[in-house]
Amino acid sequence: MARMSEHVYMDHAATTDMLPEALEAFTEQVRRGGNPASLHSGGRAARMALEIGREQVALGMGAEPVEVILTSGGTEADNMGILGLYRARRAADPARTVVVLSPVEHHAVTETAQWLEKHEGAQLEWLPVDENGRVAPESLRETLERVADRVALVTVMWANNEVGTVQPIAEIGEICASFDVPLHVDAVQAFGSIPVNAHLTGISTLAVSAHKLGGPVGVGALYAPRTVKLEPSSYGGGQERDVRSGTVNAAGAAAFGAAAESVLTDQPPRSSAWPVCGTA
Ligand SMILES: Cc1ncc(COP(=O)(O)O)c(C=O)c1O
Repeated sequence: MARMSEHVYMDHAATTDMLPEALEAFTEQVRRGGNPASLHSGGRAARMALEIGREQVALGMGAEPVEVILTSGGTEADNMGILGLYRARRAADPARTVVVLSPVEHHAVTETAQWLEKHEGAQLEWLPVDENGRVAPESLRETLERVADRVALVTVMWANNEVGTVQPIAEIGEICASFDVPLHVDAVQAFGSIPVNAHLTGISTLAVSAHKLGGPVGVGALYAPRTVKLEPSSYGGGQERDVRSGTVNAAGAAAFGAAAESVLTDQPPRSSAWPVCGTA
């Protein structure tokens, strides 16, 4: 049998090992147990662990805890942002059926947009990219000059999962804001590797995932301030501001928070080691 030491794991963009502090926060809460929605002491302790995790994740992206909805990962956060924005915009104005996106998005984004195209009448506007897979802000401006009054949302990732290209999100956000169209950002690969600020002008929703920065698989978050209208993605107990029903994973949230806090304190050395193209 091959010894572990003979293997070198190099696929950290796919998933990376849990950090010891994340593992500790996770096991501590798993041992403690409790449903964070319960009003008794067991529930309140779980709620406390959950809220500390939410706060740490929020802090890592420059947001307020109340703006963070916990999810089962980056895929769910992307689905929730795109479907939620599309449906809310369409409900307010049925003419808003255009989804503007880059062709280098993760499947969690492209498949969601294509599902909307097939089943809910969306028209997809694909933005051109250069040889590094970078979106030129001018091409977004030209697209919006043409179709802004029919746009439901724009979705562009922050950092690419295959080649590491960093998109000019600040400029993209400014352009979306100037046309008054919401922007969803998939920041799953960016969060923990380069500075991510969810409060940049124009960002409506932003997806992150724990297992890319030393947290557990199966935990993520969507930045979604209350001012942004989002149709719920699941119905039930009304957890997570009625947008995402279901018992919240307190252990996962605690571990995500611990990982985010640890990695983001250590950010400059990590990010300079990344082979990213383009600029943030
Ligand atoms: C850019 C990007 N978006 C979304 C996801 C999906 O995240 P998760 O694995 O947490 O569902 C990934 C995962 O590889 C990713 O790299």
